[in-house]
Amino acid sequence: MASNRTFTMIKPHAVADNHIGGIIAMIEAAGFRIVAMKKTQLTPALAGKFYEVHKERGFYGELCEMMSSGPIVPMILEKENAVTDFRTLIGATNPANAEEGTIRKKYAKSLGENAIHGSDSDENAAIEGSFFFGVTEQY
Ligand code: RTP
Ligand code: MG
Repeated sequence: MASNRTFTMIKPHAVADNHIGGIIAMIEAAGFRIVAMKKTQLTPALAGKFYEVHKERGFYGELCEMMSSGPIVPMILEKENAVTDFRTLIGATNPANAEEGTIRKKYAKSLGENAIHGSDSDENAAIEGSFFFGVTEQY
């Protein structure tokens, strides 16, 4: 059964460019309910832990550096088929391939600075959500 929760982070460049409100407006308009949200900043070590699955990839160092370069806005979101529908809403990883109407089409600058993260499975959504939020922060 598909989970009804996913996890997302608005990435540092989009926070720095004042796009928190614009991105959240798109998320809510698409029918997602915000279960948990905060503004925080990862250290390089914490970013490394969050993205541990990508440790062997060539872009790992650059990714951890970028994700710890400024504040981010992590959120847990709820909706039927949350993981799949949210991946559709954010669009392709490379904004050059992102479809019209997606968050990345509107706010991404490049493959690295692609505005937003979205969990890729129900299992990872649960792991990633609990990385940032305790049970008393989820409503
Ligand atoms: P995300 O995890 O951020 O939602 O993105 P994704 O699933 O669409 O892409 P993923 O393969 O999980 O990669 C995580 C992030 O790493 C950066 N990336 N850089 N230089 C590269 O080849 C490269 N490939 C990926 C992107 O910022 C991507 O969002
Ligand atoms: Mg991913």
